[in-house]
Amino acid sequence: MNIKQFETEELAASYAFDRIAANLDNGAKVFGLATGSTPLSLYRKLSQSSLDFSRTTSVNLDEYYGLAANHPQSYHQYMEQNLFQYKPFENSYLPNGTNLEVNSEIQRYNRILSEHPIDLQILGIGRNGHIGFNEPGSDFTAHTQLVNLTESTIQANQRFFESADQVPTKAYSMGIASIMAAKEIILLAFGTDKAQAVRDMIQGPVSEDLPASILQKHPNVTILLDKAAASLLN
Ligand code: F6R
Repeated sequence: MNIKQFETEELAASYAFDRIAANLDNGAKVFGLATGSTPLSLYRKLSQSSLDFSRTTSVNLDEYYGLAANHPQSYHQYMEQNLFQYKPFENSYLPNGTNLEVNSEIQRYNRILSEHPIDLQILGIGRNGHIGFNEPGSDFTAHTQLVNLTESTIQANQRFFESADQVPTKAYSMGIASIMAAKEIILLAFGTDKAQAVRDMIQGPVSEDLPASILQKHPNVTILLDKAAASLLN
């Protein structure tokens, strides 16, 4: 693991931006994208840049089960608002939250992932160590799956909804094996809320109890931290 600590979140986002630009220059075709608060400064920089994604593909980690693409809190809308309206990709894929036929959606998304192998995957990390929506206990060998969100994730994501009971309790997510198949991975983590998960990811054992710990086994992963997220590292 390549671990970098920055004075500020903006500087960490600039580093991630430069890695994306370098990948584009080197002919990368597929970018794996995340949602949430963490990548917002990166997406702002991409949106304001002159980078051209019109010949590349994006695949997102996850989408809430039951939310339509036009639902204001869907990850489709998040991507549209924060990146795609400024930087259109040739193709952009997210799981379809309104496909309630779980097996068909899982097969569809796994097919998309096998047809579009990810060159660079951007990740955030949950306070409980989740990546994508692969919660503690997730099988490291899993590909796309329907997951039950834990109470802590529902609480953490409540801030985007009017109340906790509006947060969907399930989501489609790329599995750990799908994430590990990316050629390069960049994980960003900011703030004291993430410090314990960051420490366990880097210094703890590789364990399904802390899904992000599997990244210790990836050959090309960079962890970008602000001071607060790095504060519990030895
Ligand atoms: C979202 C995702 C999640 C988030 C994580 C952190 O697509 O994959 O794993 O990265 O929940 O969320 P924030 O960035 O809001 O703290």
